[in-house]
Amino acid sequence: MSETPPQESTQSSDNPPIVVEDMTMAYGSFVVQKNLNFTIEKGDVFIIMGGSGCGKSTVMKALIGMQKPSAGKVLLQNESLWDAEEHARQQLLQRCGVVFQHGGLWSSLTLSENIELTLEEFTDLPPNDRKAVANLKLALVGLAGFDKFYPSEISGGMQRRAAVARALAVDPEILFFDEPSAGLDPISSRNLDELILELKESLGATIVVVTHELASIFTIGSNSVVLSPDTKTQIATGNPVWLRDNSDNPAVREFLNRGEKTAA
Ligand SMILES: Nc1ncnc2c1ncn2[C@@H]1O[C@H](COP(=O)(O)OP(=O)(O)OP(=O)(O)O)[C@@H](O)[C@H]1O
Ligand SMILES: [Mg+2]
Repeated sequence: MSETPPQESTQSSDNPPIVVEDMTMAYGSFVVQKNLNFTIEKGDVFIIMGGSGCGKSTVMKALIGMQKPSAGKVLLQNESLWDAEEHARQQLLQRCGVVFQHGGLWSSLTLSENIELTLEEFTDLPPNDRKAVANLKLALVGLAGFDKFYPSEISGGMQRRAAVARALAVDPEILFFDEPSAGLDPISSRNLDELILELKESLGATIVVVTHELASIFTIGSNSVVLSPDTKTQIATGNPVWLRDNSDNPAVREFLNRGEKTAA
């Protein structure tokens, strides 16, 4: 069962960046999540949340073209991602940038080279322009001057920023993060939250974040879906702060109140 409270910062458009319709995700006969229905509007910071192992990352994989749903649809700007031909699917996915858990930078390449490699793969830019764009993207995440550093030479928080710069390389309309603050100290986590909000403002991007970090959820989230490991489906959608304080569902309130039981 799902509830739909008022949404704060979203704006409606004819073709929302992402619509998930009646989606089921499974590994063989093992159903991870079923009957998922939610809409991600332009300008949202949309949180996919739920307890450990409930299927957050698996759901994100369906949205970024990595794992086909066993039922249902993912519409990217009204085009069905998994019904499209391979070439059309790749075109749709060009609109998406992904920051994986722990960043996933190539350790043998400098920060600049990491970004240049992405540009080489997805654009026709000549090498000098690739360098210039890489520097620009690094500046955008507060890493100007670090282009020649290797990932091992910078802190975990900076590595995560560099991964964001790489995801920004192709000017994505939608930016995905899987557990952006995993393994970071609280200050680096908060800085990353600020960066996410800055990017939303400056680029007008739509942002999708998989996380169970409550501090982050309440700071950056404008809308969300809550996945339950028990019912194996969504138990709420809406603004996280609103859900924390107003949800009719005790499991939702409990999750959003650090596991404390709250009065109905
Ligand atoms: N490649 C796979 N093959 C089979 N089962 C998998 C695979 N990947 C994940 N699972 C199972 O699917 C379920 C959901 O996993 P998933 O990683 O999506 O959850 P999650 O909510 O992202 O977890 P976490 O909070 O630990 O990141 C888990 O039971 C997991 O063991
Ligand atoms: Mg996960």
